[in-house]
Amino acid sequence: MKVLIIGNGGREHAIAWKLAQSPQVSKIYCSPGNGGTAAIAENISFQNIHVLTEFAINHGIDLTVVGPEAYLADGIVDVFQKAGLCVYGPTKLAARLESSKAFSKAFMKKYNIPTAKFESFSDAESAKAYIRQVGAPIVVKADGLAAGKGVVVAFDVETALKAVDDMMTAKIFGESGATVVIEEYLEGEEASLLAFCDGNIGIPMIPAQDHKRIGDGDTGPNTGGMGTYAPTSAVTPDVMERIVNEILNPTLKAMALEGTPFVGTLFLGLMLTKTGPKVIEYNVRFGDPETQVVLPLLDSDLAQVFKDAANGCLDPKSVRWKQDQVAVCVVLASGGYPGAYQTGITIDGLDTIQNSLVFHAGTKQTADQGLVTAGGRVLNIVHVGENIQSAIEGVYADVEKVHFEGMIYRKDIARRELNRYIKK
Ligand code: AMP
Ligand code: GLY
Repeated sequence: MKVLIIGNGGREHAIAWKLAQSPQVSKIYCSPGNGGTAAIAENISFQNIHVLTEFAINHGIDLTVVGPEAYLADGIVDVFQKAGLCVYGPTKLAARLESSKAFSKAFMKKYNIPTAKFESFSDAESAKAYIRQVGAPIVVKADGLAAGKGVVVAFDVETALKAVDDMMTAKIFGESGATVVIEEYLEGEEASLLAFCDGNIGIPMIPAQDHKRIGDGDTGPNTGGMGTYAPTSAVTPDVMERIVNEILNPTLKAMALEGTPFVGTLFLGLMLTKTGPKVIEYNVRFGDPETQVVLPLLDSDLAQVFKDAANGCLDPKSVRWKQDQVAVCVVLASGGYPGAYQTGITIDGLDTIQNSLVFHAGTKQTADQGLVTAGGRVLNIVHVGENIQSAIEGVYADVEKVHFEGMIYRKDIARRELNRYIKK
């Protein structure tokens, strides 16, 4: 089977790594890929959906997997399907669960899927009047895609009003902020649950927890994600049952009912509140860096799972997980991230890592300098252990072997889980 993976993050490297283990997979292409995928796949570089489609036809691609949401929101799956190609991912209409918050919130309201109470606004004055009326804490969200930066959690009214001005008047996210969703602040612990979906059923993966802020102790600005671990014990078997029965299954049933069945990875960003799990957001693709800890725990042939999902015939029995294993991922980022940072800096020490997995994100192989940095999040070090303590020790032992100028990382990834583990 020839596979094409679209994207260039740590997520795509982890997908390529897992697919490369499948006896069915004979060749992997990544577009554009990164310095890590170059070692297990052939990197190609086509941005345009129609050029990618032509490539897939001409090279006899049997399966395409799409990483980034922007391609899905642009309808890459629709174009591939029209060309008769097998593709794992949602159509443009199904991708609205992520590409429009106004759509996803209205959808959840219609189908009674637990989420924060909200109102949508397309003019700034009404949005601001509503904020003054309900007060803080309150959350302001740009309707459209904003590269993970379109959410402001405001603990005072002034901050919320400024967010509305930034999004709707100054248009810092362009048309993505033409409509805003203003919602109730939810309190609790966050968790990420991904599920393989075939249009009818969803098979949950191992629940994970991300660390979105740049600084230790959850301080500083939000990032794409600075580290993850899985499983998280915050999602107990009871909570998992509620997530499946109250959120995952109703979402898939409703999407099918709306005539937009969901195929691909549905990613539930959840707040585990006192009254039960609630959806903070849907994503319509694998999470990054959730994927880097979830796929190493998968005991099944990922190529088969993708093919079955794309063909609408997922079998829950065919998806098995490694028992009694825990994975921790620490992201190594460029100094300055999530703000401005330099690239082209030489990376050393990776060849000394033997006990952890290394998934590349913003890296590039160069002829003269070897492997260099090429993005904000540069590398993901992932350690699989028998418990959270050994996984944390293992990952940080290997993190310390890597060097590039300005390298930053969080030192407290999975500490919350460790505290729960020690207390047990
Ligand atoms: P999102 O991009 O929607 O995942 O939001 C980014 C982050 O903002 C989330 O990971 C949460 O930490 C926070 N957030 C979003 N919505 C809410 C909410 N209703 N209540 C509390 N925190 C929220
Ligand atoms: N880690 C969060 C995301 O992929 O959106």
